[in-house]
Amino acid sequence: MRILIAKDYDGMCRNGADLIAAQLLLKPNCVLGLATGSTPCGIYDRLAEKYSAGELDFSAVHSVNLDEYVGLPPENDQSYRYFMQKNLFDRVNIRRENTHVPNGLAEDIEAECRRYEQLTAAYGYPDLQLLGIGLNGHIGFNEPDESFPVATHRVSLTESTIQANSRFFKSLDEVPRAAVTMGIGTIMRARRILLAISGENKKEIARAAILGPVTPRVPASVLQLHPDVTVILDEAAAALL
Ligand code: F6R
Repeated sequence: MRILIAKDYDGMCRNGADLIAAQLLLKPNCVLGLATGSTPCGIYDRLAEKYSAGELDFSAVHSVNLDEYVGLPPENDQSYRYFMQKNLFDRVNIRRENTHVPNGLAEDIEAECRRYEQLTAAYGYPDLQLLGIGLNGHIGFNEPDESFPVATHRVSLTESTIQANSRFFKSLDEVPRAAVTMGIGTIMRARRILLAISGENKKEIARAAILGPVTPRVPASVLQLHPDVTVILDEAAAALL
């Protein structure tokens, strides 16, 4: 694992955007695995700036997102498709047909999970997978469990994740209770992984994930076994490393 500590959130985002930009320059038709949440917003802002400055070209890039809520249509401003359009896709020249987010409205969610896994596999899995981490150590929506889920699957969200996500909804009742997520096995097949961690409230889970035992009780700890992981943190999140 490579660990890159920046002074603050802005510095962490610059590091993240620089690493993703390097991936695009190295392989213009790369497959990016993308994440939503608060952490990557600043990274996407920096990427959009680089694109506007003529430094980046997304025209040949393909993307697969980690996850999507079950039951939210793409036009719902809390859906992850909506998030990606607003924060990145509509700001750069990536082709809409090259971007993929699980379909949370699929009638048969199990079939959708199989379709999404096959799609990701057909791409040969991401060249670079961007991840955030939940307060309980989840990556994607892979919550603490007895074992590591292998492939894309449907999850029931834990109470702590529902609570954490409720800040984006008008009321707790509106927070979806289920999601489709890439499995830990899907994530681990990415060639390179970029894990972004920011903020004082993530310092304990950052330590557990990076320095603690590898256990499905802390899903992100599995990344210690991946051959090419870069963790970017700000000083607040790195305080216990
Ligand atoms: C989002 C995702 C989640 C988030 C995690 C951290 O696609 O997969 O695992 O990365 O919940 O979210 P933030 O960045 O909002 O703290």
